[in-house]
Amino acid sequence: MFDLQSYLEDRRGMVGRALDEAMPLETTRPAVLHRAMRYSVFAGGKRFRPILCLASAEAAGTGVEKALVPAISLEALHTYTLIHDDLPCMDDDVLRRNKPTCHVVFGEANALLAGDALLTLAFEWLGTVQAPPPYPPCQLVLELAQAAGSQGVIGGQVEDLAAEGCQPSADLVDYIHTHKTGDLIRAAVRMGVIATGGSEEVLNALSGYAANLGKAFQIADDILNATGGEKALGKPTGTDAQRKKATWVAVHGLDASRRMASDLADRALTCLSPLRGHTEPLRALARYTVERAC
Ligand code: IPE
Ligand code: IPE
Ligand code: MG
Ligand code: MG
Repeated sequence: MFDLQSYLEDRRGMVGRALDEAMPLETTRPAVLHRAMRYSVFAGGKRFRPILCLASAEAAGTGVEKALVPAISLEALHTYTLIHDDLPCMDDDVLRRNKPTCHVVFGEANALLAGDALLTLAFEWLGTVQAPPPYPPCQLVLELAQAAGSQGVIGGQVEDLAAEGCQPSADLVDYIHTHKTGDLIRAAVRMGVIATGGSEEVLNALSGYAANLGKAFQIADDILNATGGEKALGKPTGTDAQRKKATWVAVHGLDASRRMASDLADRALTCLSPLRGHTEPLRALARYTVERAC
């Protein structure tokens, strides 16, 4: 029987060690910048995107080794998005992963620059890895750049901020969730397949899995912001309603949001049915996405 808890612990350990080895030391000049980068990267995140990347490599039929650098690149880039997301000019949050946010500890300018440096570092690492055939060698860099850019995460963040205080439509929240969160989750899955040279058939099936999962992940985040406890989540709750954020819950209500997240997880699972590889971790991660308490 597959044990998700021990799988997650094992993978978190693997990702944490690889990040620790790859990141500049705290003492490296400029020390304040490297301290800020390490503070946020090692603050206790779930490592969901790197774990998903490794699990996708497993499902594509090869070992996880070749997906490890892409996996840590995803976490570096994800951490940059969180540091910037918490800044006073964005969501203005003071708590993340049960710790004061990066700008609270290091000041706004250093937090901004730590985010910039993590974004850059993600591509420095990824630039050392060539995708194997049937993919062009630069495909991993392209996947991450497209997911993170103006038509991906950043585009989603822009519309998320612009929608604050307005009455959002279902279409608008769909756009926001697909891009601010879904695109990086989709890239995590695709990069796991691409790094190991998985077939395009597997890539297409897993892209469908990831598109459903990415949206479900952000719907769960919205539900937890409305219903969860600050201690368990490690970040402030009730803030979306206070700031009139464009969330799934604001548009569809809590009950329908729960149902829709669960339907999306089911759809993600259906996308896995043609695969013959080791898909148990991906299945468990889909259920975890909508059942998690933090
Ligand atoms: C939080 O992501 C931001 C969203 C896109 C919802 P996670 O819930 O993965 O945060 P960490 O990395 O575990 O802190
Ligand atoms: C975060 O969305 C999305 C990105 C950081 C790209 P939210 O603002 O809803 O996430 P939390 O609740 O602060 O983690
Ligand atoms: Mg935000
Ligand atoms: Mg936020």
